[in-house]
Amino acid sequence: MPQKSTVPSPEGYPVIGHAAQFARSPFHFVENAIEECGDLYRMELPGTDVYVMAHPEHLRRALVTDIDSFGKTDDFQRVFGNGLLSTEGEQWSRQREIMQPLFGRDRISGYAPYMVEATEQRLSTWPDGETRDMESEMQDLTLEILFATLFGRTLSPGEGENLREASDGLNRWFTPTSWLMPPWVPTPARREFSESSERLRTEVDRLLAEQAYGSQQTDDDRPNGLIAMLQQAREASGEDHMSKDEVEDQMLTMIFAGYETTAAALAFAWFSLATNPEIRREFHDELDTVLDGDLPCPKNVDDLELTNRIVKETLRLYPPVHTIPRQTTEPVEVDGYRIPGDEQVHLSVIALHRDERYYDEPKSFRPDRWTGNFEEELDEYAYVPFGGGRRTCIGRDFALLEATLVLARIGQNYQFDWMGEDTNITIEPEITTQTKNGLPMRIRKR
Ligand code: HEM
Repeated sequence: MPQKSTVPSPEGYPVIGHAAQFARSPFHFVENAIEECGDLYRMELPGTDVYVMAHPEHLRRALVTDIDSFGKTDDFQRVFGNGLLSTEGEQWSRQREIMQPLFGRDRISGYAPYMVEATEQRLSTWPDGETRDMESEMQDLTLEILFATLFGRTLSPGEGENLREASDGLNRWFTPTSWLMPPWVPTPARREFSESSERLRTEVDRLLAEQAYGSQQTDDDRPNGLIAMLQQAREASGEDHMSKDEVEDQMLTMIFAGYETTAAALAFAWFSLATNPEIRREFHDELDTVLDGDLPCPKNVDDLELTNRIVKETLRLYPPVHTIPRQTTEPVEVDGYRIPGDEQVHLSVIALHRDERYYDEPKSFRPDRWTGNFEEELDEYAYVPFGGGRRTCIGRDFALLEATLVLARIGQNYQFDWMGEDTNITIEPEITTQTKNGLPMRIRKR
């Protein structure tokens, strides 16, 4: 087939291209661009082009069949150094092998009681009838859970806040307004990113030092944590194989990747339930019937059929990782168009998940769509909340267990009422999917 030359691009402005339209309303821009240009389009930004791909075949290709032509972007390196999210080749496979045991099924089941305990501790801080921002509450909780499980210890007062603020600041590198300027311009958002990055590194150093000097061991009988495992790997393989910087990068990556994503899933699940009272009622009924007052645990969560579908549908409608960025390592041909080497490509998870070719009424929250043969008939790469291929999220099973346990434990005792002005919330594409104004909900004891 003769090659068509340039990838189609929606109408834009001279010099700034699509930057202002994107910054003003990022997800609308993506939606409109796909409507105008199809599943592959080119976004023109100051000094660079970004190619967006939004067809299951594109994801299959970039994540599986042609993975060597689609490498990780420089941004990953900038944000996470040589952590598991950013490395490639031999270094990545060695790191993945070292980390995998922390995420094995048995190991994860062992984390369940700590996940439930941390949830109960947070519940004890919720006064009946008060309105709280669930996005922020869920971030606190998932960070506490991450520490209680992978780090094997409880966060001390104030520590969570410091870490969360620092970690959240990493998102600023991707703030839509930053796209208005080339990467070398120090916009306020980029300055915040740099400060947060330094702050998070200081926090990580402190955690490592505590462990090394034994002043803060893991809590008594907790499973041996991430830090211990990384240090063992370092001792076993010698500094050449796992430098101190690499250990730091790994911790930073795990902190960031391990809590904001699951927090987003949980916060959007509460929002969806609060704004769909009929489904919320069925959800509470299921918890009362199946659990009958018992604590949720790995043995009974599979029986929470609706709760599991609620998690699945939330990850579809509000994918915490809305785009998977890549960089072409060589010129590639896609749908007859040529994308040059060294160009940024975004695999748009949110566009796929909201595409009516795969989902009826794609913008409605409908956990019942995940019944019967629906999933078997769906293209595997039309539902990709955890990515795909060999770079699939290492924390997938951890996150799914955590989300189900937390929803179940909270839903046994509490229900939430939506207190925002409008159910039409504005979501923002940072590294993770966030809301513009938080998710205020009134906490009601059941
Ligand atoms: C609902 C929660 C989560 C979602 C939606 C999610 C999503 C993703 C996605 C889409 C990727 C692929 C990125 C890419 O290919 O560039 C990924 C990778 C990764 N995730 Fe998650 N994640 C979640 C929870 C977690 C948790 C709980 C952890 C750790 C405790 C974690 C750690 C990681 C790491 C380290 C990678 C890189 C894996 C590799 O490249 O080998 N994630 N995640």
